[in-house]
Amino acid sequence: MKMKEFILLSVILLLCNECYNLSDFSHYKNKSVFNVSDVYLNSELLIKKYQYPFENHYVTTKDGYVLNVYRIPSQGPPVLLVHGIADSSDSWLVLGPENSLAFLLADVGFDVWLINSRGNKYSKKNVKSTPKEKFWRFTFEEIGTKDLPATIDYVLNKTREEKLTYIGFSQGTTSFLVLCSLIPEYNAKIKNSILLAPIAWVNNMKHPFIETVALNFHKLSYLVNKFQFYEVFSSNRVQNKYHAYVCKQESLSNILCVLEYFLSYGLSNSSHISKNKFPIVASHIPAGTSSFSFLHYIQNYILKRFQSFNYYIESNWSTNQYLRKLPEYDLSKVSAPITLFVSDSDWFTDKKDVNKLKRSLKSIVGYHLISARDFSHLEFVYGSRAKKLVYTKLFEILSMFN
Ligand SMILES: *[C@@H]1O[C@H](CO)[C@@H](O)[C@H](O)[C@H]1NC(C)=O
Ligand SMILES: *[C@@H]1O[C@H](CO)[C@@H](O)[C@H](O)[C@H]1NC(C)=O
Ligand SMILES: *[C@@H]1O[C@H](CO)[C@@H](O)[C@H](O)[C@H]1NC(C)=O
Ligand SMILES: *[C@@H]1O[C@H](CO)[C@@H](O)[C@H](O)[C@H]1NC(C)=O
Ligand SMILES: *[C@@H]1O[C@H](CO)[C@@H](O)[C@H](O)[C@H]1NC(C)=O
Ligand SMILES: *[C@@H]1O[C@H](CO)[C@@H](O)[C@H](O)[C@H]1NC(C)=O
Repeated sequence: MKMKEFILLSVILLLCNECYNLSDFSHYKNKSVFNVSDVYLNSELLIKKYQYPFENHYVTTKDGYVLNVYRIPSQGPPVLLVHGIADSSDSWLVLGPENSLAFLLADVGFDVWLINSRGNKYSKKNVKSTPKEKFWRFTFEEIGTKDLPATIDYVLNKTREEKLTYIGFSQGTTSFLVLCSLIPEYNAKIKNSILLAPIAWVNNMKHPFIETVALNFHKLSYLVNKFQFYEVFSSNRVQNKYHAYVCKQESLSNILCVLEYFLSYGLSNSSHISKNKFPIVASHIPAGTSSFSFLHYIQNYILKRFQSFNYYIESNWSTNQYLRKLPEYDLSKVSAPITLFVSDSDWFTDKKDVNKLKRSLKSIVGYHLISARDFSHLEFVYGSRAKKLVYTKLFEILSMFN
């Protein structure tokens, strides 16, 4: 097939909900969850299917967002898992009990808490009837200063503990660093933190579109405002089915999946996401977030700074030159113990940026460089090699602190 045909096919698949034989979960209502493919299961059903105990908690932030927080309860020490941008608690579950971190942590006795940060498919409520443009006005800074403290306090209260273990991936590391620098009293509530693919400065990010996007940053911000594109990469059934279909290795249109995952995330070898799990992973992402969440990283790429977001740019489309330098997040305030897991082949964590982060943090207790060939960004949570190359070491570190 030629490129044109691939594109045509992908459009047809996207538009044609029932062209291929993937049914909606409602068709399975009368079947036991055990008989339903993981492709269709949300966090709750994945946990139940694999016969782990399950609890659903609702955490309300200071500014009224209602976060859906899942728990695999146990008497052990609490651990909070924080997903990446436009992702959800599903990310810690989709590889199943053998390979996904939430299950592996539960197996060794941790009390596992899975956050869903504001705006993703599980956390779309606000107790106040917030207008759209206000609801979506957030980035990793609000996640760090509102969602994380509310959730950490909730978990510590429920478990009657003084500290918890924090594990974040990608944006889940950015918001952690923002929290510990802007509200430093939270450092004392962190027993130990593990930052997978840590992102603070993105000055040298290698994404193939980043330059083009950066050059058009002011236009993008203007469009977001003008056409109210406040929510991006939201989860929808058609897209999930499309992803489940094209990401089957044996499917004819698999190249669409391969291209998308390379161009979006730098995944250069699709067999690094285990063969039979790829459709399951792909059907669960993306899970939605605000446009500003992405624009914030792009702004920082342009300014070469790790700082707050200039919201006023949204109505100012003349040029990027009006981007204001705001104070950088003060990482000298971060004092919670931190272990970094970094890969050489991760587009989003260039060596120079990671070195700058390392120099700025005074509480690093461990640093692990994964030098395996082509270990790309998503593999920290979705990779077939993550258990061997990341989690083995991660469990050693956790046992030193518990
Ligand atoms: C289509 O899906 C239904 C429901 O899961 C199943 O019973 C049927 O066998 C499938 N048909 C084909 C051709 O795979
Ligand atoms: C599910 O089962 C109930 C009774 O057990 C039945 O009334 C209903 O029609 C079934 N629904 C479907 C979609 O099969
Ligand atoms: C559903 O799964 C259960 C447990 O694996 C099994 O015992 C049962 O026969 C399955 N039912 C159907 C309709 O496939
Ligand atoms: C802690 O939880 C109890 C009930 O479990 C509640 O009454 C109390 O207000 C909570 N405290 C805080 C600080 O959230
Ligand atoms: C892709 O990964 C698989 C499994 O690690 C490996 O066997 C294969 O050689 C890799 N392919 C390329 C082109 O690197
Ligand atoms: C853009 O922002 C700058 C700096 O705040 C301001 O001087 C300029 O007038 C603004 N332009 C528009 C079109 O709003």
